[in-house]
Amino acid sequence: MARITAGLATSHVPAIGAAIDLGKDGDTYWRPVFKGFEFSKDWIAEHKPDVVILVFNDHASAFSLDIIPTFAIGCADEFQPADEGWGPRPVPIVKGHPELAWHIVESAILDEFDLTIVNKMDVDHGLTVPLSLMYDKPDAWPCKVIPLAVNVLQFPPPTANRCYQLGKAIRKAVDSFDQDLKVMVWGTGGMSHQLQGPRAGLINSAFDAQFLDKISADPEALTRISHAEYVREAGSEGIEMIMWLVMRGALDKDVREVHRFYHVPASNTAVGHLILENP
Ligand code: DHB
Ligand code: FE
Repeated sequence: MARITAGLATSHVPAIGAAIDLGKDGDTYWRPVFKGFEFSKDWIAEHKPDVVILVFNDHASAFSLDIIPTFAIGCADEFQPADEGWGPRPVPIVKGHPELAWHIVESAILDEFDLTIVNKMDVDHGLTVPLSLMYDKPDAWPCKVIPLAVNVLQFPPPTANRCYQLGKAIRKAVDSFDQDLKVMVWGTGGMSHQLQGPRAGLINSAFDAQFLDKISADPEALTRISHAEYVREAGSEGIEMIMWLVMRGALDKDVREVHRFYHVPASNTAVGHLILENP
């Protein structure tokens, strides 16, 4: 059977992608950011997931205000890197796992968790930057990826608790998939950041530290935080952190934290990164 072996969370700052693509990762500004992922690159090379369910938000690349799915799961064979204004990133095409994606769709929807089925979707920095942070610059991504896009752009996003419950629905689906697959769930986005308005540049390291503690030890406390509190404490884009709860909901109650990293700043963002293993 398929099994979820680990969860991983990381910020998905687009400037990190540009730093990798332009070979600036050794620069004084960027070196401390990439240092936090050295352990992770070794860890992923050892643990080799067959499939990553990658929870991210589309930043108006695949979707627009015309259609705003709350939760959209990519069921296609492949997903092209999106053109975000400077041409698509020079990264490999993302290969999907349609069989597992459709199994999740069937399991979740018949269990009354109504996902939007997407058969064509370009994937932006929210998805490709985490892959680059973990795998650097391969000719092909070493795992299949099931993109799971969460609306955190247009109010109202799903609640933190709904994200956590989606993680549980994903867990149930993966556990009942009749193929021997090692599956990981990655949550991306955050940590505290705000890109616009009078509070642009906001970073709240105290809130981030508490979030990092609780995501391992007491995720249910995080499901009780309201949108208003996330935005007040972590900034308007800090709401991206609710996507980490999808990852956490898919793991066991007790997890082993094998890596934690936090750094300020990367672009406008506090970078947070965690690796959690199922025992
Ligand atoms: C930045 C961070 C993000 O998560 C994003 O989607 C866009 C920009 C930033 O820090 O610049
Ligand atoms: Fe973002």
